[in-house]
Amino acid sequence: ARQIIIDTDPGQDDAVAILLALASPDEIEVLGITAVAGNVPLALTARNARMVCELAGRADTAVFAGCDRPLGRDLVTAEHVHGKTGLDGPSLPEPTMPLQDAHAVDFIIDTLRAKPSGTVTLCALGPLTNIATAFEQAPDIIGRVAEIILMGGAYFEVGNITPTAEFNIYVDPQAAQIVFGSGAPLVVMPLDVTHKALVTQVRNDAFRALGTPVGVAVAQMTDFFERFDKEKYGSTGAPLHDPCVTAYLIRPDLFTGRHINVEIETASELTMGMTVADWWRVTTRAPNATFMGDLDADGFFALLTERLGRL
Ligand code: BDR
Ligand code: CA
Repeated sequence: ARQIIIDTDPGQDDAVAILLALASPDEIEVLGITAVAGNVPLALTARNARMVCELAGRADTAVFAGCDRPLGRDLVTAEHVHGKTGLDGPSLPEPTMPLQDAHAVDFIIDTLRAKPSGTVTLCALGPLTNIATAFEQAPDIIGRVAEIILMGGAYFEVGNITPTAEFNIYVDPQAAQIVFGSGAPLVVMPLDVTHKALVTQVRNDAFRALGTPVGVAVAQMTDFFERFDKEKYGSTGAPLHDPCVTAYLIRPDLFTGRHINVEIETASELTMGMTVADWWRVTTRAPNATFMGDLDADGFFALLTERLGRL
């Protein structure tokens, strides 16, 4: 199994991504979950991450709290999408499992130093503040990262928080610039892909029909989370952005993309956080990321439903 750290700001779609990972021990070993401020403030994302572990029956998972604000900007949150708690929809009990004492950034650094080089994969589901801070504090770990698989950015689908920026990159563009410029192997799941991972009524019914606490909670999460995208984009249902990251670890064949250069806009207030993706390779800038463009949505939902049924 691939050893991973999940860096996250749950978020209903983050929650589903975590559940998918915890349901797939043959392919994925979750070394720890690091919470970051994003969809809601840090205290809530650290709480929500633990609620999701308990929902999965995995209260033994190590959860760490990380950075409570972006590197150089005020925190922008997304309660308008995810609700007041970040995990509105199901009524889950308050978590009783502990939050680890260590800071998330120290956990990332210590883990990458302790494990053999090239064996730990970072899965980033929120703003990149924790990972960028770890890279700044301990540049020696960058070369030890197996791969960073992240949800963020957009190309044809442009933006969801500003006309040109996707939320995770917009919240901390400086952190994104550090990560995209780090030289670590990157796989990017932009809105171009995640807006194809749409929950339809049939797909939501399949979650609910699992009849388990996990299946019902996931159906309630997507019921809540979909209203934003339905109103805003007229889409059929909730886009499961972040589960694309953990699905990629299990079934990379579901995704197609290109190895291209991607730069992050950090100067212009108008286009702040834009992922300038050289999809057509019109520059000579060196490729730094595999930027996904398409996914097999039916295959993705079949995988997700089957795995959630194991919890
Ligand atoms: C991303 O932003 C958050 O709202 C979601 O959890 C996802 O990670 C989508 O733009
Ligand atoms: Ca997220």
